[in-house]
Amino acid sequence: MTEPTITCVLYTRQQIETTVKKLASEITHDYAHKNPLLVGILKGSFMFMADLVRNLSFPLEIEFVRVSSYGKNKQSSGKIAVMQGIRTRIKDRHVLVVEDIIDSGLSVNYVLESLHRKKPASLKVCCLLDKPARRQVNVPIDYTGLTVPDKFLIGYGLDWAEQYRYLPDICYLEDEKP
Ligand code: PRP
Repeated sequence: MTEPTITCVLYTRQQIETTVKKLASEITHDYAHKNPLLVGILKGSFMFMADLVRNLSFPLEIEFVRVSSYGKNKQSSGKIAVMQGIRTRIKDRHVLVVEDIIDSGLSVNYVLESLHRKKPASLKVCCLLDKPARRQVNVPIDYTGLTVPDKFLIGYGLDWAEQYRYLPDICYLEDEKP
């Protein structure tokens, strides 16, 4: 694994804020009277979820699941490790999965399949960042913030080897050139 050395800002905190507000507006239009359950996929979604619900002012509930597939690598291992499953009853609830980034699609696909088996009234996906270049499974995305290039992104909840989640902007890492 090559040590990353350079970070460049791809989306500023202002661009992120504008995007989150746009998503919140769409979600408000569709869910304002449905008391939805928003299910965030940890750890990456923690910042996005917090900012998203700050822009929603109608009855809703929040839940988290935690899965991991990257470890310290910059490519998905392809194996989803479930660290914490859903703990709320979702049968007949309107469920909206909140994801920071959809890359291969394996993580959200795994979560969607496990939630679907519990028979929610509806099941949709909101992601801040969509990286279609790396997709391995087809995932229906109902609310997309930004379609991003094929770069390894960090910041605003996204990590490299657990670092950089705290950055307020979304940045990308470039490997050191030999
Ligand atoms: C990242 C990210 C998404 C997932 C997207 O999580 O937060 O959940 O990968 O990639 P995929 O579409 O290829 O599955 P990661 O597994 O790194 O765990 P983390 O959220 O704890 O950082």
